[in-house]
Amino acid sequence: MTSSSNPQSNQPLPYSRRHLLRAIAGGGLGTIAMVFLRPAAAAGQDLEELCSMFPQNSRCLDYLPGVQALDAEGDAIALDTFLPTTSPGVPQPVQGLPSVTYLVIESGPAIAPYGIRPVCPHRGCAVIWQADQNRFACPCHGSKFDAQGRRLRGPARQSLPLVTVVERQNQIRLIDRAPAIDPR
Ligand code: FES
Repeated sequence: MTSSSNPQSNQPLPYSRRHLLRAIAGGGLGTIAMVFLRPAAAAGQDLEELCSMFPQNSRCLDYLPGVQALDAEGDAIALDTFLPTTSPGVPQPVQGLPSVTYLVIESGPAIAPYGIRPVCPHRGCAVIWQADQNRFACPCHGSKFDAQGRRLRGPARQSLPLVTVVERQNQIRLIDRAPAIDPR
């Protein structure tokens, strides 16, 4: 085994220059192998990321990003039977993500490509939908938000946070990520 010596102490160094170059080359090959031989789970995660941000991308036509929206009983919601039960301007609460999501119903009726997380941006209290006032209200300090979650009154300074909503294969899919651009 080849080894270098330390001129200060005359002790052999643990690695020669050749060993060092081998280690660097090995590391590079390891990195290349990691990129090209990634586990399927990582590739699926990439597709989830891509389709969450760009659901209309051609690679995402058959891919179902996020999680399926569920009704209050925990049953999957079918878009074609759900839509006729909705009214434009009246948000619909659905399950699926860790906390409830309010779907925004547009004229048609149609599902908006975003949903509302009913969490007050002031101090994080759960806001309540007030159907008679057509708005969300925070019970903690009185902030108000319209049916699209836009801020009407403080102390909250921002509108309600959003998640991304995708319609695909008669399903409503919820993606726990705000749209790239706030559509409100
Ligand atoms: S937490 Fe909602 S207004 Fe303060």
